[in-house]
Amino acid sequence: MSDSNKSHGRKTIHPTLVPRELMSDRPDLARAWMAQVITLFPEAFPGVLGLSLTGKALQDGKWQLKPVPLREFGEGKHRNVDDTPAGGGAGMVLRPDVMGRALEAARRHISPAAPIIYLSPRGRRFNQKFARHLARTPGVTLICGRFEGLDQRVLDHYGVTEVSMGDYVLTGGELAAQAMLDATVRLLPGVLGNADSIEEESFSNGLLEHPQYTRPATWEGREIPPVLMSGHHGKIEQWRRVQSEEITRERRPDLWDAHKAAKRGE
Ligand SMILES: C[S@@+](CC[C@H](N)C(=O)[O-])C[C@H]1O[C@@H](n2cnc3c(N)ncnc32)[C@H](O)[C@@H]1O
Repeated sequence: MSDSNKSHGRKTIHPTLVPRELMSDRPDLARAWMAQVITLFPEAFPGVLGLSLTGKALQDGKWQLKPVPLREFGEGKHRNVDDTPAGGGAGMVLRPDVMGRALEAARRHISPAAPIIYLSPRGRRFNQKFARHLARTPGVTLICGRFEGLDQRVLDHYGVTEVSMGDYVLTGGELAAQAMLDATVRLLPGVLGNADSIEEESFSNGLLEHPQYTRPATWEGREIPPVLMSGHHGKIEQWRRVQSEEITRERRPDLWDAHKAAKRGE
């Protein structure tokens, strides 16, 4: 095998279950971390979550994924889920009675300690700290909005936490839900093969990660920094630390200031 063809510790997975089967009821997994996703598009799941490490973990029962099809809780023959905004204006709003029924049904199958989160551009910004927090809960019920969003009364009535993926507007909450679940599931015990990589990666210690290199040693005339080829672990660690600090200082002054304050014990 040539250098360029070598795998460097990546896991190959051979799923034996198709995505739908991975998401079906498995009573044997009653205590596995549970993600419920209320959505108008259940077919969007597991999506990328069915691949690679998160897919393998789903297959191994380290977590469970239950899409809750909002349409099934809709009104009347056409299963309507939305209506025009009170007070007028563009678009449609998801009805509180429809979402209420979906939530009541979903919450019967999850620990009351699992938070209810509405993916929303108005919410608190999702970050690694929040992913770590979620990974320590028994699971989560995610509400994916569509159209102009969800009737405020549902959020108030159930004490729903609004969480944003960033300062931009997506068409619906499904992509945001998948990003949030991906970041959380990889932190669950036993999901990532090498726990060290969680400790070293960006944000784990408040810093961005150092640059990474792999074979070939020279590419397009560019060398791997010699210290990384030296075999001297102390020097490698020190080089990575300095790189990590420089990159954080340059790219994210906000993180750098927080890191320095944490070091001073503020
Ligand atoms: C078109 S957006 C609604 C935007 C809403 N009218 C507003 O201005 O805040 C439809 C749905 O996409 C989801 N969404 C859009 N942007 C998001 C973001 N940045 N983070 C999380 N969810 C988002 C939410 O669930 C939202 O209800």
